[in-house]
Amino acid sequence: MSAETVTIRVRRGTPEEPSRIETFAVPYTEGMSVLDAVMWVHAHVDSTLAIRYACINANACKECMVRVDGKTGYACTSRLGVEGALIEPLDNKALIRDLVTDIVPPKERLAAHLAGDG
Ligand code: FES
Repeated sequence: MSAETVTIRVRRGTPEEPSRIETFAVPYTEGMSVLDAVMWVHAHVDSTLAIRYACINANACKECMVRVDGKTGYACTSRLGVEGALIEPLDNKALIRDLVTDIVPPKERLAAHLAGDG
């Protein structure tokens, strides 16, 4: 593989369909994050690829949590090497779509507040 591109594999799908792995070649920059690669795919290849993030590389929002090569971490602080990576949604949270899972604690949900439980 050239150091000019890196290959990422992304597990995609919804709760209503079997998941699948899709492969993307992404321009490589030393020090880039997994989130940088996924955002590049979203902007240049497939705008339907779903990932949640808010602060982008500030490690403040905690919304970009995914599995990278089987380990849970933040996509924005996980560095991507030239060997690429397998990027998957969290396996202990309910899948919403692609890399987005339901990470909101139950008592922080609007419905819980409206019901007086939160
Ligand atoms: S995007 Fe906010 S912690 Fe990763």
